[in-house]
Amino acid sequence: MKKIVISNKVHYIGVNDRKKNLFENNWPLPNGVSYNSYLIADKKCALVDTLEFGSKDDYIEVIEDILEGRDLDYLVVNHMEPDHSSMVGWIIRRYPQIKIVANNKAFKMLEAYFGISTDSIHEVKDGDTLDLGYHKLNFVITPWVHWPETMMTYDATDSILFSCDAFGSFGSLDGAIFDDEINFSYYEDEMRRYYSNIVGKYSHMVQKAFAKLKGVPVSIICPSHGPVWRKEPQKAMALYDKWSKHESEEGVVIAFASMYGNTEKMADYVARLIAERGISNIRVYDVSKTHVSFILNDIWKYKAVILGSSAYNAVMHPMMQHLCNELEILNPKDKNYALFGSFSWSGGGVKTLVPFAEKMSWNMVAPPVELMGAPTEEKMEGFMEIAKHIL
Ligand code: FEO
Repeated sequence: MKKIVISNKVHYIGVNDRKKNLFENNWPLPNGVSYNSYLIADKKCALVDTLEFGSKDDYIEVIEDILEGRDLDYLVVNHMEPDHSSMVGWIIRRYPQIKIVANNKAFKMLEAYFGISTDSIHEVKDGDTLDLGYHKLNFVITPWVHWPETMMTYDATDSILFSCDAFGSFGSLDGAIFDDEINFSYYEDEMRRYYSNIVGKYSHMVQKAFAKLKGVPVSIICPSHGPVWRKEPQKAMALYDKWSKHESEEGVVIAFASMYGNTEKMADYVARLIAERGISNIRVYDVSKTHVSFILNDIWKYKAVILGSSAYNAVMHPMMQHLCNELEILNPKDKNYALFGSFSWSGGGVKTLVPFAEKMSWNMVAPPVELMGAPTEEKMEGFMEIAKHIL
């Protein structure tokens, strides 16, 4: 296997996972994902995060090959989610003298997952340093980006930030590892989808992490998923700053749940009215067809959202309920919104969308449009107001 050197003695030893269908058994991976692990072969040798178990059958051999008979002194555990930590047990069995470098929030999890006692742990606190020889590692505790124990490791010598999930992306690394080797337009959507699906709920903690990193020179970002940023690390930071501040682009997402096509006709009608007003970014999604992961990504991206649901057992359609549940959990902010729906008996779609939307504290631009039976232009007159004010 070709060695990939990031900087002095710092090696990329990650892997692509193109087999898994659902990340966290929830989020689709049509373009795969990479698990990035890094090995610093300095005077003292340190591994920074591991991989998902079973994702790289020659992982230990790759480490041994780089170390050329030397011991591994430290394993830095920035994050305990098993896509990065589930090889920790294997590393300990191969290098029984190793010290696990972690903060105290990770202790219970290390014990629960691997039976690791505090004797094997080198505890680090915010701002602590670990001297490897050439490289001097500093630890930045960044809780809830996106688990309670998450931290980042900063190499003060070469200004490398090992950021774990932060600045990560879905999408496998297809030969190109570094940001100057990739076509970023391919990755931008997958990077935002990763952010909105995995990290976005904790946007306020991302902002706190940024505050801690203020003034710290960063030449290279080594995240745990997706490209390594060595040419434009500021670009990755600017995107995360924008997304975590809930800054959006001009555009409208229309998501609908329709049983027999009436609510879908309403979605197409309002989409056309919006297009006639000169708005070109309009995305219409059938929630029964498109996985919520992709709809959430576009809702995070764009300023406005319009939700429509047929009545189903006198409430909203179950697939729209799924989208609303995820929206409530992940909590994208500062949206303009409107609602619509159709029914055959006594309503239910709009009736249950209203209290959901009120909980989101978004800005309602016009009253909901609700109709019985087949849509007609007359019944849909209210869409004129929605189209006029949605952006
Ligand atoms: Fe990539 Fe939170 O694990």
